[in-house]
Amino acid sequence: MSVRSALPVMLTAATVVALAGCTSTKPSASDDGSKLQLVKSGKITTCTHLPYEPFQVRKNNSIVGFDVDLVDLVAKDLKVTQDIIDTPFEGIQSGEDLNTRKCDLAAAGMTITPVRSKNLDFTDPYFDATQALVTKKGTSYTTLAALKGKKLGVQQGTTGETYAQKNAKGVTAVQFEDLGLLLTAVKTGQVDAAINDNGVLFEYVRKNPDTEVTAEFNTGEKYGIGVRTGNDALRLEINKVLKKAKADGSYDRIYKKWFPAAPKK
Ligand code: ARG
Repeated sequence: MSVRSALPVMLTAATVVALAGCTSTKPSASDDGSKLQLVKSGKITTCTHLPYEPFQVRKNNSIVGFDVDLVDLVAKDLKVTQDIIDTPFEGIQSGEDLNTRKCDLAAAGMTITPVRSKNLDFTDPYFDATQALVTKKGTSYTTLAALKGKKLGVQQGTTGETYAQKNAKGVTAVQFEDLGLLLTAVKTGQVDAAINDNGVLFEYVRKNPDTEVTAEFNTGEKYGIGVRTGNDALRLEINKVLKKAKADGSYDRIYKKWFPAAPKK
């Protein structure tokens, strides 16, 4: 057992002692987020929501993608391996999965928002995104206004759903649990269009030439990795790894691997 994987066990013992000795509801000194603790020793446990290609998707029985590769850099730096849990987006974005220690971090193509920042802590941004519209090829739905009286697919709990609630007046929103179901609904004509992040939609239309992206909405979103509120040790560790990855070319290598068709940034 490495020194690192032995650490959580020792800290747990220290926590028990500290709690026994104080009546305050404040977290004990060893759980104030200043020391890096992992929910399972020897692992960094990631919560994500599949499929969200190319950020996270199951291929040949393993989960791969841009976010997976980034978190693998953190795992490598901590000398542990990454375990990934596929779980509904609602529990991820509400902070619940982090608070109940289901996972150490959430990497799910998740946009940093003020509301979410109240319920979890975000790392530095690692990816830019904007909302976009996808339809079957040959429709004239290039704006939300053009979808008046039509059906717009939205993914539950996402920034796309919020954007549609605010901006797609008179449009019937149809909610889907995940991106896979949302995109299938576009393909089969169950909805007239769907809204989601540009990165995943461009990936989908590249592989499904009967569909197209007809609009981008310039929502100026940035993805962050989520950690439990106050888990500064892990947040700062991830920031350190992200910074190094951007400086040493590994971020660019991972970017090119998952976005081969993207224009050079
Ligand atoms: N970026 C959007 C949001 O944060 C969508 C994320 C959905 N991610 C996923 N893995 N299902 O709301």
